[in-house]
Amino acid sequence: MPLTEPEILQWLLEPDEARVEALYREADRVRHEHVGDAVHLRGLIEVSNICIRQCAYCGIRAGNTSLQRYRLSRDEILECARQAVMFGYGTVVMQAGEDYGIERDWMGEIIQTIKRDTPLAVTLSLGERSEEELRVWREAGADRYLLRFETSDPALFSMIHPPVHGRMAESRIEQLLRLRALGYEIGSGVMVGIPGQRYCSLAHDIALFGELDLDMIGVGPYLPHPATPLGAEALRPSAGAGEQVPNSEHLTYRVVALTRLVCPQANIPSTTALSTLNTQEGRTLGLQRGANVVMPNITPAQYRALYEIYPAKSCIRETSSDFHAQLIAGIRALGREIGEGPGGRNKKAASGGRV
Ligand code: 5AD
Repeated sequence: MPLTEPEILQWLLEPDEARVEALYREADRVRHEHVGDAVHLRGLIEVSNICIRQCAYCGIRAGNTSLQRYRLSRDEILECARQAVMFGYGTVVMQAGEDYGIERDWMGEIIQTIKRDTPLAVTLSLGERSEEELRVWREAGADRYLLRFETSDPALFSMIHPPVHGRMAESRIEQLLRLRALGYEIGSGVMVGIPGQRYCSLAHDIALFGELDLDMIGVGPYLPHPATPLGAEALRPSAGAGEQVPNSEHLTYRVVALTRLVCPQANIPSTTALSTLNTQEGRTLGLQRGANVVMPNITPAQYRALYEIYPAKSCIRETSSDFHAQLIAGIRALGREIGEGPGGRNKKAASGGRV
């Protein structure tokens, strides 16, 4: 029997740290039982920081005019893919702002080339795109698509995601289902501690991960960016006294652990946002509390600082090869292995864990 939404809420509010430790142990056990000890590495390529959206929390929003914008060339992207193969990664994740300069056929050809010339799985994280684009990219060989719904509270969602003028707003849930129907593995997730986010809505988010039977789930703390309305506190959604979820490291671990219990087979990364809050241990603790994936950044060094969705991203200072060597050693020190192959979702009949 998987956790119910009221039980998830209780765990988010649990004051007894010893019980929370037991929750973490159970999440680690369920992770071991359902997805094993392999840690899958996905090379993250930040293809473009150009974005037409005005998301109230995100540093690469269109309204941030102080940011220098870039889009990688085809050759730069293919070079990153070669590097991913060299490091032994099984997947590349191409992520960008909602950049319509990333044209359907240009991206289609890049996907096709990567699939033809390498054994890599290809994950896309390119924002809300048309059905036609998504179909062409799927036919070109893309395997997976990431689109976080960020919060399942419709009022909060619409406050922090102004719609694009002249475009029909389709909910992110609908878009995820459409992606699945196209044959993608689907990934989603939320930020923890968005101003205005209530504990009960976060509990609902986690229950929804299970209902959607997501293949991949990424959660990280909300990190304020001063060049955004939310970060500059020009926009202050209110959750009411005692109801606001903190954007803390500790609460993020609880969300990772509960996510594992609700979705035992999902691929769950220990996120960069988490290691930004705790550069020493964040990644490791995520892996010990339910996560089984790490997404090393392989974007060319000169562009790293420009993909500033939040300040002081932990990967800015790292070179890909230094980071790679440390990461491998760190994973082995935990008694875990490096995942081999594409590391897609392994669907089998299974029941969730209970504490
Ligand atoms: N803090 C934390 N996470 C953020 N993201 C965007 N902006 C921020 C921020 N300020 C996350 C969103 C998005 C993912 C790529 O990065 O959840 O889906």
